[in-house]
Amino acid sequence: MTAPLPLEAEIEAAACALARGEVVAFPTETVYGLGADATSAAAVRRVYALKGRPATHPLIVHLSGIERLEDWACEVPQAARRLARGFWPGPLTLILRARADIDRTVTGGQDTVGVRVPSHPVAQALMRAFERCGSGAIAAPSANRFGRLSATRAWHVRAEFGDAIARVLDGGACTIGVESTIVDLSTGRPVLLRPGSIGPAALADALGEWPAAPGADAPRASGTLASHYAPRARVMLVEADLVVEVARILLAEGRRVAALAREARQPLLPELRWQQAPPDPEGYAHALYDTLRMLDEAETEVIVVERPPPAEAWLAIADRLQRAAADRSAEGGARAGGEPRS
Ligand code: TXA
Ligand code: MG
Repeated sequence: MTAPLPLEAEIEAAACALARGEVVAFPTETVYGLGADATSAAAVRRVYALKGRPATHPLIVHLSGIERLEDWACEVPQAARRLARGFWPGPLTLILRARADIDRTVTGGQDTVGVRVPSHPVAQALMRAFERCGSGAIAAPSANRFGRLSATRAWHVRAEFGDAIARVLDGGACTIGVESTIVDLSTGRPVLLRPGSIGPAALADALGEWPAAPGADAPRASGTLASHYAPRARVMLVEADLVVEVARILLAEGRRVAALAREARQPLLPELRWQQAPPDPEGYAHALYDTLRMLDEAETEVIVVERPPPAEAWLAIADRLQRAAADRSAEGGARAGGEPRS
């Protein structure tokens, strides 16, 4: 059963709250966002503080349409127009050179800005209402504490923040379920910073060239940290034919273990919680964060995840699972070298 969408009055009230500098959680087609007025440094700082995110990690500015782009970007290259025409409104974020007059709080101190035009009807209605009473531009990271699982249902946002956020617009389950594809167009050649539901082939079709992989000098983006999008449980990524064997060893060690696999339940190990994932990448992405969160709620200690297929359609899922599985203690060592994380 899908939840009814918020009423117009509720959206108007949320827009007024944004205009007063408050933080509002809202649905997008990818994940829920933790929104604030992108033109207010004080409101944006509130988002950083709530999330526990370092102030050097930029936020995405959400706009109602491409016609608002020049309020934020000082240069809109041909490649940006092509991608915007092809994929906006939708799950694509573009990194562009920022206008000199925009406050650098939202860009994490960088001279580039991330912009996205989301397609979700509630996000669109919120931005249109906010244009009537304020700037209309919503700075929003995913509505989760830094480094944790993104929220794809309204209850996920409430579970993350409790009473710390007064307003959560409930748009039901996010249809896509993983964060937007991010393409950096600020350096002269397109770079794919974060894979999403729009894959490299679709980007190449619109661009006329393949986007490059990020180099070592890629801008700091929290979604590109090795350990991110992580449940509390430890995640182990293994080949399909090893799921049962690895689970068996962990169970023998006395752990609470779940398996996340596309195959039907294996009846061999009654103590193993078998979580069957949808067989197609769209269904898998839609369910992913909800499933991981649910396994956390059940106090699972280790989630043995079947490695997704090496096909392009699974790229975003493989990326998120790898980051969820990344060794957090190893990253702790790296952090001592200056890389922050929650
Ligand atoms: O689907 C999405 O993109 C969701 C919804 C709410 O729009 N938002 C989201 O935001 O995932 P967040 O903050 O969790 O992830 C955005 C990523 C971060 O890794 C951030 O560092 C990167 O985008 N980013 C934003 N502006 C950037 C910039 N100017 N340069 C490089 N990376 C940037
Ligand atoms: Mg995030």
